[in-house]
Amino acid sequence: MKKILIYISPEKYSSLFDLILGYDGGADIVVPYSDTGGEDIRDIVYSCVYTRGANSRKNTAIFIGGPDVNKGDEFMSAILAIFKELPEEFRVSVVADPHGAHTTSCACAVKIKKALGDIKGLNATVLAGTGPVGQSISILLAKQGCNVRITSRKLAKAKKVCAIIKDKHGATVTPCEAWDAKTTKNAVSDADIVVATGPEGITLLPENVWSKNPRIKILADVNAVPPYGIEGIDPRDDRKKTADGRTNIGALSIGSLKIRIHHRIVEKLFEEKGQILDLEKIYKEAETLTD
Ligand SMILES: NC(=O)c1ccc[n+]([C@@H]2O[C@H](COP(=O)([O-])OP(=O)(O)OC[C@H]3O[C@@H](n4cnc5c(N)ncnc54)[C@H](OP(=O)(O)O)[C@@H]3O)[C@@H](O)[C@H]2O)c1
Repeated sequence: MKKILIYISPEKYSSLFDLILGYDGGADIVVPYSDTGGEDIRDIVYSCVYTRGANSRKNTAIFIGGPDVNKGDEFMSAILAIFKELPEEFRVSVVADPHGAHTTSCACAVKIKKALGDIKGLNATVLAGTGPVGQSISILLAKQGCNVRITSRKLAKAKKVCAIIKDKHGATVTPCEAWDAKTTKNAVSDADIVVATGPEGITLLPENVWSKNPRIKILADVNAVPPYGIEGIDPRDDRKKTADGRTNIGALSIGSLKIRIHHRIVEKLFEEKGQILDLEKIYKEAETLTD
C-alpha cells in the first residue's frame, strides 16, 4: 500500500523544500494542499480517515507546513477537534512543522544540549527570537530549565510573543529590546547560551561584543545566508571548541541535522496511525538521532 503524505498550508504555493523532504523521508506520494484552511480542513481530514481500512490507515498522514507557527497551531487544533467528533479508530498521524521551525529548533536545541549536558539554570538569550524558529527554540530551552530571554527590535513585540508562549506552552520567557550593538551587548551580558535566530543575511551579534564576554559558553546561529547572524562563526562549525573555551554551532551544521530530523518524522508518521507529533515529540525523536 502506498504511503501518502498530505501537505497542508495557508501559503500560496506549497513549500517545495517540504515536498522534497516528504519524498526523501519515505512517502510514496506527497499531495500538496496550499492556500487552504477553514472548512477545507474538515474535507481533508474526512478524505484521509474514511478512505482506507483500520489496518491500512497508518499509510496516510498529514504534514502541516506554511510560514506561520501560530497558523500551524490553529491547523493542528482544528484537526484534533475534528478527530474528537469521530469514532476513536478514525485517525491518521499528523505533524506540524511550519516554516521548518520545529525541526530547525530541535536540531539547534539538541546540539546545545549535547555540547553542555545539563542546561538547567543557565541563562539563554535568543536574538531576534520573535520569529517561528526563535520562538520554538525558546520554548525548548525554557522547558529544560533555562532562563530564556527573547529579543526583538521592539519591546512590545517581544512582550506579545512571550505572552503567547506562556499562554500556549506554559513556558516563562523574558522579553527584551535589542536593536543595535549596545542594546545587544546588554541582552547577552549575563548569557551562558546565545542563539541568533534572525533573518537571512543579517548580522545580529558583532564579534567585538561576544569576544569580550567570557560568560558565553555557546554561540549558535541558524542563519545560513551570509552575512551570518553571529560574526566570526563559521556556518560549518559543529560544536567546535574554541581556544577561549566556547562552543560554536553554525547554521549549516544545524541545517544538516534538521534535514535528518525531518526525514525521521516523516518515517515515524507512517509507523502507526493516530500519532500527533508536536514540538516536544519531534524533540524526543531528534534526541535519538546520533550525531
Ligand atoms: N539552519 C537551518 O536549517 C534553518 C532552517 C529554517 C530556517 N532557518 C533560518 O532561521 C532564521 C530564522 O527564521 P525565522 O523564519 O524564524 O525568521 P524571521 O521570522 O524571518 O525573523 C526572525 C526575527 O528577526 C527580526 N528581524 C527581521 N528583520 C530584521 C532586521 N532587518 N534586523 C534585525 N532583526 C530583524 C524580527 O524580529 P523583530 O521584528 O521582533 O525584531 C523577526 O521576528 C532565518 O535566518 C532562516 O533562514 C535556518
